[in-house]
Amino acid sequence: MSEYVLVLYTSRHGDTAKLAAHIARGVEESGIEARLRTLPYNPADTGDQAEDGTLYCTLDDLKGCAGLALGSPTRFGHMTSAMHQFLEQTSNLWISGALIDKPATVFTSSSTLHGGQESTLLSMMLPLIHHGMLIHGIPFSAEPLHSGIGGGSPYGAGHVAGDNGENPINQDERQLARLQGKRLGQLAQQLAAN
Ligand SMILES: Cc1cc2nc3c(=O)[nH]c(=O)nc-3n(C[C@H](O)[C@H](O)[C@H](O)COP(=O)(O)O)c2cc1C
Repeated sequence: MSEYVLVLYTSRHGDTAKLAAHIARGVEESGIEARLRTLPYNPADTGDQAEDGTLYCTLDDLKGCAGLALGSPTRFGHMTSAMHQFLEQTSNLWISGALIDKPATVFTSSSTLHGGQESTLLSMMLPLIHHGMLIHGIPFSAEPLHSGIGGGSPYGAGHVAGDNGENPINQDERQLARLQGKRLGQLAQQLAAN
């Protein structure tokens, strides 16, 4: 049985990385390990880790996970090319059905509130649906979805970073990310036990 949830993100300036850390904390609150992994920003980077020491994701990290949280900055209302390129390398996992019936969820950071967070989240869901993953977001019982200020929606956690990344992740954004991670961890354990 898989014993970790993969939290995989790309991040150029660290905003999505910070949100990923809150998702991971929520996963671990549910009682399962969160495996944080990232991807090289520059395709010519042949190393195995980012400058902050986060390991680059391998296809085996993805294959062996009990659940997945996928995060990307918003790039013109879409995920980064690095994330898209990684997903395009997963056809063997697709053909073998390695990710079928595993839970998955998505998160993003953008500079502006109405700059395309929801379309970015939806863009990340599509390949995961093709993989047969069980997509979930954040239920309306989460209080910040009603009254919160900042990013995040029923489609997934979000951070509004500001034009120069000047906004710290606020309390509402953090709470939604933690709830989303915890729910993913719980679902991963329940589904793995069946
Ligand atoms: C090429 C490019 C396209 C972007 N497109 C958008 C966009 O459509 N909407 C938006 O609000 N922010 C956009 N941004 C800003 C980033 O989404 C924002 O700075 C994000 O917080 C960066 O996350 P990171 O620190 O994890 O890299 C764009 C940035 C770049 C470099």
